[in-house]
Amino acid sequence: MSSSAEPSRLLVRDLKQVASPGGAGAPLRGAALHDVDVLEDAFVLCEGGRIAEVGRMRDLGPMDGDVAEVDGRGQCAIPGLVDCHTHVCFAGDRVEEFDLRSRGASYEELHAAGGGILSTVRATRSAGEDALDDAVRRHREWMLHAGTTTFEGKSGYGLDRDTELASLRAIGAAGGIPTWLGAHAVPPEYDDADSYLDVAIDEVLPDAARIAEAADVFVERGAFSAEQARRYLETCREAGLGLRLHGDQFSEQGAIELAIDLGARSVDHLEATGEDGIRRLAASEVVGVVLPVAALVLGRPMPRARELVDAGGAVALATDFNPGSAFCESLPLVCSLACTQLGLSPAEALGAVTVNAAHVLRRADRVGRLAPGFEADVVLLDAPDWRHVTYHVGGEVVSAVVQSGRLAWRR
Ligand code: NIG
Ligand code: FE
Repeated sequence: MSSSAEPSRLLVRDLKQVASPGGAGAPLRGAALHDVDVLEDAFVLCEGGRIAEVGRMRDLGPMDGDVAEVDGRGQCAIPGLVDCHTHVCFAGDRVEEFDLRSRGASYEELHAAGGGILSTVRATRSAGEDALDDAVRRHREWMLHAGTTTFEGKSGYGLDRDTELASLRAIGAAGGIPTWLGAHAVPPEYDDADSYLDVAIDEVLPDAARIAEAADVFVERGAFSAEQARRYLETCREAGLGLRLHGDQFSEQGAIELAIDLGARSVDHLEATGEDGIRRLAASEVVGVVLPVAALVLGRPMPRARELVDAGGAVALATDFNPGSAFCESLPLVCSLACTQLGLSPAEALGAVTVNAAHVLRRADRVGRLAPGFEADVVLLDAPDWRHVTYHVGGEVVSAVVQSGRLAWRR
């Protein structure tokens, strides 16, 4: 389907249902997150890479000219999924660590002993740019097959100038939205976090800011304090980057307050967030990105996403795809966990992996909805009801993916 003779129109027809988050704005908060528009016996018409029309089959007018067709019988369509938090650029794996943790070793202790994130840093530094390109493309294919058509990718496993910039380039080259996670961990060649940050800010930030859209920092004991994160993020903001934070994964260190104070786009994780943090976050413009796979894999308490939604907060869901805490590329599985572990409804989960995730990436005007003018990114589900995307736990529920109006993958 890639020749220049390919019709610029694609009709996905005879769908059992077309489901898209409701509302017009972003982010979706409170009751609006539960709104999904469902059309029965419907079609999606794509033209020039955009959605031209969504409607009922009985209202489909005659098609003149060339139109490619996809048979949607027995299937449902939802928007292409948006993964707003991934660490796709890394070499090697951590299966040894996974095995050790299965037998009781703790993630934080392995990290403190120079394993964990730092073991991936060693592998990533020695991989070379071509291998990083290959790795990101491979991970992108896995994500595509699970229905992800827009993804953010963080650096953070280089922590030196060359590898950080190579990581950001690899993410962009594979079609991802690069985030500079220059403050992921303190690499072993530095005595302390501040001397590492001095170098990262002076020598990496000017070039990173030309490639990345946002900066991210891991605020945690054993990583960076809120004070160090403030210095890093303020400098990144001056360089034009949006701000993200990994916060409250293991302990509350002031990440939420900092995120609100700096006007960050999101604060992500929140496993350790208490009532007060939920209340403050809910009253702010900062999106809470929850990552239930990381909580599940590390045996952490699930983030209080239900309370955050009920208090009027903006919530997005993401995979956190990475080799340590969440080796999982599947947003459908994340949605299943949202419904079974976080107390969200299928409708809320859908809004959180589409419109709200797109808002975090500042693309909510283009992706996350099946509506005219939006990017023609459509996920077909092998199911009679769109809610199977959450109900079919870990199943092969995605049957095909249309990306920018082209059939990108079919099971
Ligand atoms: O979001 N917590 C920090 N960073 C990642 C994990 C990175 C790793 O273990 O390699 C996360 O969970
Ligand atoms: Fe993460």
